[in-house]
Amino acid sequence: MLLSVPLFLIIISTSVTAIDWSDINLHQSHVPLYLQSHADLKTECSVDPECPFKDSLESSSCFGYEESCEDNELYKSANCPDLSKWAKSADDQKRTFWNTGDFGIVSEKRKNMEVLCSSSLEDGSYMECEAEARYCHGTNIVLDLEKVTPSKPYDTEFIKTGQIGGRCKVNKKVIKGWNRDHRNFLQSWYQVVEHFTELPEEADDQCDVVFSKPVYILQNDAVVNMFHHFCDFVNLYVTQHLNSTTFSLDNHIIAWQTNGGGFSDPFGAMWKVFTKHPVTAIGSYVGKKVCFKDVVFALPPRQRLGLFYNMPLIDGCYGTSLFRAFNEHVMHRLAIQQAGPLRDKVRITILSRQSQYRNILNEQEVGVSILTRSYVSILTRSYVSIRLRVVYLY
Ligand SMILES: *[C@@H]1O[C@H](CO)[C@@H](O)[C@H](O)[C@H]1NC(C)=O
Repeated sequence: MLLSVPLFLIIISTSVTAIDWSDINLHQSHVPLYLQSHADLKTECSVDPECPFKDSLESSSCFGYEESCEDNELYKSANCPDLSKWAKSADDQKRTFWNTGDFGIVSEKRKNMEVLCSSSLEDGSYMECEAEARYCHGTNIVLDLEKVTPSKPYDTEFIKTGQIGGRCKVNKKVIKGWNRDHRNFLQSWYQVVEHFTELPEEADDQCDVVFSKPVYILQNDAVVNMFHHFCDFVNLYVTQHLNSTTFSLDNHIIAWQTNGGGFSDPFGAMWKVFTKHPVTAIGSYVGKKVCFKDVVFALPPRQRLGLFYNMPLIDGCYGTSLFRAFNEHVMHRLAIQQAGPLRDKVRITILSRQSQYRNILNEQEVGVSILTRSYVSILTRSYVSIRLRVVYLY
């Protein structure tokens, strides 16, 4: 009887510390890179017999923005077969492509982080922002929406002094250093974070809503448009790399949509790549004081020279690993099986719309004509939304 007591205790203690490896849920080629960024997990994996990623432990490959990442360990890299007349040299061209259209974006932003507010208190707040306030990460942050009155559906101007802040000393110089050219909605968080204020001791005592899980707040471009909305998703993905390579699904996403009500989105299926909880609109918290343990203000989709709206990408290069990673990540998380492309076959993709514009008028005829040809071997349809189907033919 006495013997069974310590045994029982051992079982309890191991089950408490055990990691649920299935939470990592990444494309298999990203797992070694992820573990490379999380040394503690890598060590844990090497000692835990249950860890399914043992074959990733030997690898030292990396996304390319990590401090310790060597050139020869890069996960994949772009090619620049044609020299650009905009570049001084081939190396210069490669570097420009890397820093503006590939994972170099993450290192460029990381180099430019500034501490906006810090505290020596153990439960104090902290806020850091990228040089033009296009990205911020904070802990113990209060967003006081009790008295705000948004005047537009997407209003970043309704926050006033004292309505965002924390218990920390604000470095006003950081705010003064931001370039006003980047102020507008979809370009930065300037108009929100410029009001960051040191709040009194009791500030986070009376929160109406407390987010104890990590939160991403984002500015969405037009959600009905695939091009624009994927700018949102790609920027959120880069944001997750930027904030210490974290891809947990157990977080909350709040869209900066200030008119109340829900958040509706024809590409709503995509959010499953980023969170297992429903996306909410900031407008649904108007009238409340909202407190965040950990919050990220994500890279907005229309940054000047940003990714990838209005993006002056240097010519002569192709194959960015960032977009490849994004594609693999999305396909993995949505568990989409792809039948093709097939070798020596031409794939035709038809966007079958039922919208006001850009419909194929003779879609029926085209369909019938193609389907009756004997060399058309595979046909798959995926429903992107009620209004849009994608049909692949081979
Ligand atoms: C940001 O990264 C930190 C680790 O440095 C992590 O604890 C936090 O959960 C992340 N925040 C979000 C919103 O993912």
